[in-house]
Amino acid sequence: MNSPSSNSKNRIRNRFLNDSPDSSSASYPNSSAGRYQSPYRRIAVFGGVYNNHFALEALLEDSSRQGTEAIFCLGDLGGFGPHPDKVFPLLQAGDVQVVQGNYDHSIGNSLDDCRCGYTDPSDNYYAKLSYDYTFAHTSDRWKSWMKHLPSELRVDLGRFHLLLCHGSPRKTNEFLWESTSSTHFLEKLCREHQADAILATHTGIHWSRRLPENRHFVNVGSIGRPANDGNLHVWYTMITADDDRLNVEFLPLPYPYKALAKEMRTEDLPEAFVETIETGWWTTCMEVLPGKERRRGKW
Ligand SMILES: [Fe+2]
Repeated sequence: MNSPSSNSKNRIRNRFLNDSPDSSSASYPNSSAGRYQSPYRRIAVFGGVYNNHFALEALLEDSSRQGTEAIFCLGDLGGFGPHPDKVFPLLQAGDVQVVQGNYDHSIGNSLDDCRCGYTDPSDNYYAKLSYDYTFAHTSDRWKSWMKHLPSELRVDLGRFHLLLCHGSPRKTNEFLWESTSSTHFLEKLCREHQADAILATHTGIHWSRRLPENRHFVNVGSIGRPANDGNLHVWYTMITADDDRLNVEFLPLPYPYKALAKEMRTEDLPEAFVETIETGWWTTCMEVLPGKERRRGKW
């Protein structure tokens, strides 16, 4: 008899195989925010896949067990990891609604770099390596699909109006760190964009803050690499509306990291990237970290 986990995995895979779209048309729809019935009560939200198809598959299984009604990805599908084309069928199988990240915008529009927003030369060096690899290994049909992803989604969760974006509502590659984002600023963003809660990603480190007047800001983190916390798992976010309260849970997500590390080495991706997967500590693209977030890490 199959375990619930293997049943879930088979269901996801069978669904993809049965629904596999014509390769001539990237028919997996994403841009219709009204595609699902709203309001929801419980949704799973994540960002920064970074080609980590192992973690994405684990997320689909785990969020299904957690009783989520819908799944949303806040962008940056590529970068860092191996085999970008393995990500898209999983998004499709999980019926995941996707917001366009800076990475997706760059790959979709054939730009020369990821527009990640780094300023340090060593950050940009590693960002360029992973961007060139991802660009070279992403099929044209999925590049076209990413080009047309929406820059934001609006979702009702209970009585709360949520705005889902990548960096911030005003700039796709804006880094909103916990230590440098004032409550006043976040509250202003919510007010100006008519949202009870703003959900973003881009930084790779999850955090949330309850704001005055029952508003919220949530950085949902990323599932592509550990959160520079020494853990080998990654994190995703479950958000539940309960009467007049919005509950935000950050859920640890174990996945087969050794299999990911093996694929990365086979693809000749930088050993520094693999070290992060095997230790839980960032080794690259970290000059952008503010002092407080950097001191939580190892380097
Ligand atoms: Fe990003």
